[in-house]
Amino acid sequence: MVDVHRYHEISESTHRIMNPLAPEQVVLLGEICGLGHDQRQLDLASGKGEMLCQLASRHGIAGVGIDVFFPYTTVATARADELGVSHLLEFLEGDAATYASEPASFDVVSCIGASWIGGGLAGTLDLMVRAVRGGGWLLMGKPYVQNDPSPAVHEQLCEGGDFVDLAGTLVRFEDAGLDLVEMVLATEETWDRYAASQWLNVAQWLDEHAHDPDAADVRAIRDHLRRSYLAHGRHHLGWGVFVLRCR
Ligand SMILES: C[S@@+](CC[C@H](N)C(=O)[O-])C[C@H]1O[C@@H](n2cnc3c(N)ncnc32)[C@H](O)[C@@H]1O
Repeated sequence: MVDVHRYHEISESTHRIMNPLAPEQVVLLGEICGLGHDQRQLDLASGKGEMLCQLASRHGIAGVGIDVFFPYTTVATARADELGVSHLLEFLEGDAATYASEPASFDVVSCIGASWIGGGLAGTLDLMVRAVRGGGWLLMGKPYVQNDPSPAVHEQLCEGGDFVDLAGTLVRFEDAGLDLVEMVLATEETWDRYAASQWLNVAQWLDEHAHDPDAADVRAIRDHLRRSYLAHGRHHLGWGVFVLRCR
């Protein structure tokens, strides 16, 4: 079976942002947090580093991004160079769950699209809370269910995750001692852009790698994800970045 990172490297080969938000929504998050020059952000599972690079470029923040997949940290470092913010940002390869930051040392701590890394949402929020200074911001990007799926569809949607609706998501944040103060949600259009652009990337890769040993697996995963998105995900799965502060 093809490695999950390898699959996403292929399916998201043209993506700078590996989540269903539009670029302007990522920028909006920086505005919501009122970011400025003297501030620092820690981004857990930073992918290709686009959020930190954009926020450093627009708001002058400094930051650290950690991702377990080395090719992405290389892309992130090159992007920081390209945008002239490499003196502000550091991208590290590693398991973000074990990153030992100085406690309460960041103004913003984000985890966008990897809410499981701390052993589940509660554990990941706990990691984030430890790293953020008093009065700082947490940005948690994750899926939620919507439009009341049947239990069978709900189970298919979660596929190893544990997602609830928006009200249930609020309860989980409250249980973690956090106040939900804002949110930026993907729209049907931005979800389609994220999902459908991956189909084309995979189709092009398959054209160019017909004899690759991973080709059959890559095609099977793409087929499964495409069918599941069109059958259920598009209607029943939402995605958002939730802006949180410690109570
Ligand atoms: C859906 S992508 C999101 C990337 C980025 N946050 C973004 O929104 O563009 C999930 C990322 O989590 C990373 N990842 C998964 N488990 C990780 C871990 N334990 N520590 C650090 N990164 C991890 C993957 O390599 C991938 O880059």
